[in-house]
Amino acid sequence: MSKINAVAKQSVSLADFCEFVEANPERLQAISEWPELWAKFYALYLNRNLLTDFFNEGLLDTSKFQFGNNYSGQSFLIVKKPGYYIRANVWPPAVYRGEAVAEEQFNRFYVYGDRYAHDHNFDFLTIGYYGPGYVTDLYTYDHRSVRGDVGEAVDLLSEGRHVLSEGSMLLFEKSKDVHVQFPPDQLTISLNFIPDLIPTRRQVMFDVEKKRVVKTEFPSSRRVHMDVLVDLLGSKETKSVYKNIVAD
Ligand SMILES: [Fe+2]
Repeated sequence: MSKINAVAKQSVSLADFCEFVEANPERLQAISEWPELWAKFYALYLNRNLLTDFFNEGLLDTSKFQFGNNYSGQSFLIVKKPGYYIRANVWPPAVYRGEAVAEEQFNRFYVYGDRYAHDHNFDFLTIGYYGPGYVTDLYTYDHRSVRGDVGEAVDLLSEGRHVLSEGSMLLFEKSKDVHVQFPPDQLTISLNFIPDLIPTRRQVMFDVEKKRVVKTEFPSSRRVHMDVLVDLLGSKETKSVYKNIVAD
């Protein structure tokens, strides 16, 4: 878990941000080693019209609005380009009137509470864009030492509590950083920058009280498709390369 202290003086448009990313596509493989991206992402946060522009444009043609967004109702896909995407996540306060409905729409991994934590099977940057920010307890664990069996004991190391307030940025590293999320006091929106790489590991949910695995989830339908393709059509070499990619 890294708290990122990148700042920028000037805001950037979504188009300019995308142009910057697309000029360096190879660096999407390791965003934890790309400080220029962190500063540019902060500059995107400084663009206070980003979401308003996004909704205004989307409402011009609702037949296309959020077409291809496979996430829960909590997430809006701001942009999806080859190699990466940007999401806006909406975090309602617990006292929100539509709470019961909103909770049903949450992915099981994204429930609020003090007991269940999750990791992610992808690296991403997140920044508080609007509102007071959700409160999150941060942990790390060693993915290689965990098989992922339900009930398995896990050594979760506490990294303290953080509020994702406006302009504060965190880098979540895949299969390492774990967190519990608490509802914000008021409606909060965070922005995520996510390299679009095929996840090869399972996502894991933990019980932080008992320090045990609660459940795991298969990475994605794309991973399932890859498994089938490699199995049916792969040569010996394909299978060997693929085994190395997914083994860790
Ligand atoms: Fe998360």
